[in-house]
Amino acid sequence: MLASLLSAVVVGVDASLVHVEVDVSFGIPNFTVVGLPDAAVRESRDRVRSAIRNSGFDFPQHRVTVNLAPADVRKDGSAFDLALALGLLAASGALSRRTFPDALVVGELSLDGSLHPARGVLPMAVTAARQGITHVVLPPANAAEAALVPGLRVLPAATLTAAVGILRDPAAAPVHPRTTRRMAAGVDLDLRDVRGQVLARRAVEIAAAGGHHLLLCGPPGAGKTMLARRLPGLLPPLTDEEAIETTAIHSVAGLLPGGSGLVTRRPFRAPHHTISDVALVGGGAWPRPGEISLAHHGVLFLDEAPEFDRAVLEVLRQPLEEGRVRIARASRTVDFPARFLLVAAMNPCPCGFLGSRLKPCRCTPTQVQRYQHRLSGPFRDRLDLVVDVPPVEPSTFLGLPEGEPTESVAARVTCARARQAARAATAPGLPPLNALLEGKRLREAAGPTTAALRVLTRASQRLAWSARAFDRVLKVARTVADLAGVPVVDEEHATEALTFRGEG
Ligand SMILES: Nc1ncnc2c1ncn2[C@@H]1O[C@H](COP(=O)(O)OP(=O)(O)OP(=O)(O)O)[C@@H](O)[C@H]1O
Ligand SMILES: [Mg+2]
Repeated sequence: MLASLLSAVVVGVDASLVHVEVDVSFGIPNFTVVGLPDAAVRESRDRVRSAIRNSGFDFPQHRVTVNLAPADVRKDGSAFDLALALGLLAASGALSRRTFPDALVVGELSLDGSLHPARGVLPMAVTAARQGITHVVLPPANAAEAALVPGLRVLPAATLTAAVGILRDPAAAPVHPRTTRRMAAGVDLDLRDVRGQVLARRAVEIAAAGGHHLLLCGPPGAGKTMLARRLPGLLPPLTDEEAIETTAIHSVAGLLPGGSGLVTRRPFRAPHHTISDVALVGGGAWPRPGEISLAHHGVLFLDEAPEFDRAVLEVLRQPLEEGRVRIARASRTVDFPARFLLVAAMNPCPCGFLGSRLKPCRCTPTQVQRYQHRLSGPFRDRLDLVVDVPPVEPSTFLGLPEGEPTESVAARVTCARARQAARAATAPGLPPLNALLEGKRLREAAGPTTAALRVLTRASQRLAWSARAFDRVLKVARTVADLAGVPVVDEEHATEALTFRGEG
């Protein structure tokens, strides 16, 4: 007898439906699966057989043929276990129905019949709902993310036996309540903890306001990590759409903490400098999102940036420009979103104490130069703001008053972002963040006064800037003016922007 169920497979950060057809017929006992790679078939077959037996059902002593369609969609296996086992039980008469066109079934079985959570359930649920499916049967740990999708009855099953019960009488099964958006209240880390460091605090504020990438340069213990960690708190709360997108990426990466539905805070990702390029930008035989996609809509912090492998930093260039990363495989190409705010931190020299009054620097000029050049020109070019974070002795900063709290700085950031959005709304094609402005559009949006232009031109001649370096400063000046609520870039905004130019 033939039974069929619906499951799904993750493709990038989307999903495709997969028809799981199971045929049980007379013949020499045999269990064949077509439509999966060999290794996955073997593993899945073994798990399903054990799970069925250990759940107290009979494993059919007949010829079992399973087809996973469409054949041309590549599938990586484990999430089909539940559909496969239920299909087998339906085809051998253990269930009264043999087709379930309105239900999506996902979950990996363990040998004792309990269900392990699957990766990518949110995109699977979105695809299912879009195609008119009304029910989803899945492991309890995946219920909250699926319940974000309107119009789906989410039916959690902890075991194969529970899933059988649900398919026998779906109307009687307990439905997981809709996950409502409860955005995290307040911030974890407050900017008020950072005492002194007026210039660096201001750089962080400008970065948040205009979406500018930032380089913090200073000796160990100066507070670079502290500042970077407080940046997500300055960004506006995630919108519904952004929260779903961020959650989908975490779901596909298998990083949604069990039972929690939605990612509600802007991500902060701080990969170690030993990270590989695949782990950073994504990849693998079954492409998974990397750190840059996990930082989508949030902050990517590269501490000790010069210690990263140069090739690893180079692969960041394309995503920094396009806000997404394309991973090409022989069989297909997947796109992962990756629009993040980059914060890089570095010491001024290998020993870290160049220019510090706290300790003498032990490095030779050549060592210093070599260290600083580890960040390539094109990479630095993408960092609009460069700021020195000078060392502060604990006895000094503890005597300083608390800094301005995140709440009030964030309020200025919100206003500055609203001004950028309003400007973008009046001119078609104008991006909503100053960091994304370029060329002619930048000049139009910045509208520098003659005095501002004079300041910038003089600096550019003195420091022999490239056109790109000039644009970087103008962009920052635009954000400084937006923070001040001024429609044109004036002399004082240009002058302040010049303090964050690094080497130009
Ligand atoms: N301006 C400051 N106000 C309050 N505390 C500070 C300040 N600067 C540093 N600290 C204290 O020093 C600690 C070290 O700071 P942090 O880890 O941010 O330094 P860092 O610049 O990232 O150093 P490293 O180069 O070693 O990574 C902080 O946890 C904090 O307790
Ligand atoms: Mg640090």
